[in-house]
Order: sequence, then C-alpha cells, then structure tokens
Amino acid sequence: MRVRYVLLVMCGLLASACEPKAPAFTEALVLGGVRIEATELSRGQELYMRHCASCHGVDGSGRGPAARHIQPGPRDFRTGSFAHKSTPGDDLPTDADLLRVLKKGVPDRGMPPWGAMQEVDLRALANFIKTFSPRWRTSVREE
Ligand code: HEC
Repeated sequence: MRVRYVLLVMCGLLASACEPKAPAFTEALVLGGVRIEATELSRGQELYMRHCASCHGVDGSGRGPAARHIQPGPRDFRTGSFAHKSTPGDDLPTDADLLRVLKKGVPDRGMPPWGAMQEVDLRALANFIKTFSPRWRTSVREE
C-alpha cells in the first residue's frame, strides 16, 4: 500500500518534470501590428501547453499525439493559414475570427469549444497562437 503511494507520487512528479517547458516570453511582441505584452503571451503559452498542445502540437504543427486519429487533423499554425475566418483568400484571420472558433469550436471536426474559459484567457490563447507563424510579425491586420 505504502509502496503504491510512493510510486503514485513519483509518477506525478515525473509527469510534471516531463511537461514540455518552452521558455516564457520576456519581451512584448508586435503581432499583426498590435503590441502584445510578454505576460499575456506567457499566459497564452501556459494555457496552450495545458489544453491545446495535445492536438495542435507543442510546435503548433497540428501533430500532437491526440490528433493522430483526427482526419483531417488541425492545420499547421506555423504556416499562418486558417480556415475558420471572415477574411478573403489566404489573409490572416481577425481576432474576432479566432475568438469565435475558440468559443464555439468545430465539434464535428474534432475541435472542442472553449467558451467556458474567461475572455481574457481566450484572448491570450489567440495571441499566443500568432507567435507560431512569422506572418503575424510582418502584416498589419485590418479590422
Ligand atoms: C481534441 C483535439 C483538439 C484540441 C484539444 C484543441 N483543438 Fe483546436 N482544432 C482541432 C481540430 C481537429 C481543428 C480543425 C477543425 C477543422 O478542420 O475545421 C482545430 C481548429 C482550431 C482552430 C481554427 C484553425 C483554422 O484553420 O481556422 C483554432 C484557432 C484552434 N483549433 C485553436 C485551439 C486552441 C487555442 C486550443 C486549446 C484551448 C485547441 N484548439 C484545442 C483539434 C483540437
């Protein structure tokens, strides 16, 4: 009984030690022409690693372990190509587009809805996702 407890505690410690730890943001970034503070990006990163990386991948590639059986899987955030948006062609989505898809999800395609999260966290997630693609660093978003 005692041994089992010790094993359980050790597993817990190991699991947290093995969590992917990307370095936190130390500087604000200008993404889509908007300055995003480092604290917000770090918060978004933390939430992303906890809730999203299993499908979208630690690197944003869409190849997280839980996405293996989703066909077609999530798109590669690194390319900055999005499907769920109001903008024409291959233009980047607006913040409203990102927030909408986060809140509602795409349940029939395997993307869960995250509407129960606080707006401030959803915004941090949306802004963090932008760090995966260099496209946000160069383009100025039009609302
Ligand atoms: C269970 C797997 C899974 C999890 C967990 C998940 N997603 Fe998704 N997500 C998907 C799939 C699959 C799609 C693609 C849906 C489609 O093709 O229409 C998607 C699509 C998206 C899109 C839209 C991309 C586009 O092309 O427009 C965004 C943004 C997104 N996810 C963000 C997130 C964030 C942020 C989280 C964590 C809070 C998250 N996802 C968690 C599976 C997941």
